[in-house]
Amino acid sequence: MFVGFSKYFDVIITENQSEIIEAIKTAKIQKLDAIVGFVATMGALHEGHTSLIELAKNQCDIVVCSVFVNPSQFNNPDDLATYPRTIAEDKKLLENAGCDILLLPTVSAVYPDGILPYKIDLEGLDEGMEGTFRPGHFTGVCMVVQRFLEMVQPDKAYFGKKDYQQLAIIQKMAAVRALDVEIVGAPIKRAKNGLALSSRNALLNEAQLANAPQIYRALKSGLQFSLLNKNADAIVNHIEAQFLDTEMEPEYVAIVDNVTLAPVAVVDENCTVCIVVFSAQVRLLDNMQFSKVLAPKS
Ligand code: PAJ
Repeated sequence: MFVGFSKYFDVIITENQSEIIEAIKTAKIQKLDAIVGFVATMGALHEGHTSLIELAKNQCDIVVCSVFVNPSQFNNPDDLATYPRTIAEDKKLLENAGCDILLLPTVSAVYPDGILPYKIDLEGLDEGMEGTFRPGHFTGVCMVVQRFLEMVQPDKAYFGKKDYQQLAIIQKMAAVRALDVEIVGAPIKRAKNGLALSSRNALLNEAQLANAPQIYRALKSGLQFSLLNKNADAIVNHIEAQFLDTEMEPEYVAIVDNVTLAPVAVVDENCTVCIVVFSAQVRLLDNMQFSKVLAPKS
């Protein structure tokens, strides 16, 4: 496997479609039929993002990353305003991770005609969970991811299972729009204490950061509880109870089918528990699959 182009030239940084296509063409001269991988991000990069880049590097010849805080997916203007932006550090991290081409577009390069209405039938995948609490969020995500996939035209695009509903929706969007790309789901990268890595963790103070692994512990405890009681409501209550003596407030705990994302009444190994917890104003998202404890041992 060819190990990438970064060692032949510096990371190419570009902001528009013609440049990126030119950059990929130039890179392809080094290897015919190069496989192009794409990792979309909103920056404030951490090891969760680099784990996607590593996976892409293992499977592709050229890795393109985007850093773009997408205004159309924020339903709360404060959230958009406070979203962490660390582009200088991001560039270093991307270079070290072996990103070949960085797409760093302006809002007008992504939305030359402004943010236009966008309609897509996601067959209900967008109705619960984030869809309920962040109206319009997934429309914005689909809009920007479709735009990037059209700009970059990658063979494979990588998204984290940390945003479980987002991954399912992007898979659906790519199928509905008949985009010629394989959407690859990557495992959740956690800190040693179990906290799922997230750009929003940077917004937590020291005490909040120390308490945040309770989310992971609560999910694990829910999975253990499911060995005794498979009733989804009972498991949700059990998980919510893990936050009673904390400063954290669950926004929702939902147990859903892995594929349809429909809520289930009784859990089995084909379900996932998804959670959002507020630590003060910071919204933290995580999930865990029941197959971890309920899958039949082979
Ligand atoms: P962002 O939150 O920056 O995440 C970019 C990608 O990194 C997503 O696919 C996300 O699932 C993945 N990711 C984040 N933390 C992770 C972790 N701890 N382990 C594994 N993967 C992780 O998600 C978005 O940006 C945006 O919605 C985007 C898809 C870029 C569209 O704007």
